[in-house]
Amino acid sequence: MAVQKVIKMGHPLLLARAEEVENFGTAELDQLVADMQDTMAALNGAGLAAPQIAVSLRVVIFGVAENPRYPEVDSVPETVLINPEISIIGTERESAWEGCLSVPHMRGLVPRYTSIRYRGYDAQGNLIEREAHGFHARVVQHEVDHLDGVLYPSRIENLKDFGFEDELFSGPHHDEDEL
Ligand code: NI
Repeated sequence: MAVQKVIKMGHPLLLARAEEVENFGTAELDQLVADMQDTMAALNGAGLAAPQIAVSLRVVIFGVAENPRYPEVDSVPETVLINPEISIIGTERESAWEGCLSVPHMRGLVPRYTSIRYRGYDAQGNLIEREAHGFHARVVQHEVDHLDGVLYPSRIENLKDFGFEDELFSGPHHDEDEL
């Protein structure tokens, strides 16, 4: 287990479609997930996709614990999700500020579907099926985008809503919402 280097926007692997995982319950997959968990924890992220550590496989992790310092932030279950698929519930979208560990120090206003269903597998191959709303749905859409070579800046509708977080937000803010 080790913290891995997170590659940044401009690296070609962040624009590639990642490959499906074919074998579950392997030492290699467990190692990848452990590396991703260590890396996300070290950077205080809320989500991470395998391509961000230069592994082009369809593996994402995410999770936000309840934090009494930030009661406005929804908690999201700690999840390992492999070969994920998303289906949209309704057509409602909402815009919110996103950050990404591969686009450091920046934030952009990104529209996402408010409600989704998603399914995929954990590292042992057990099926995960859930409905998600709000921030939980946003995190999953952001991470699954990474597996298709999409970074959030390409989803910003008005590039005036993109900038450096220390210029955009004065006053206290936290870095636990990077994905
Ligand atoms: Ni990201």
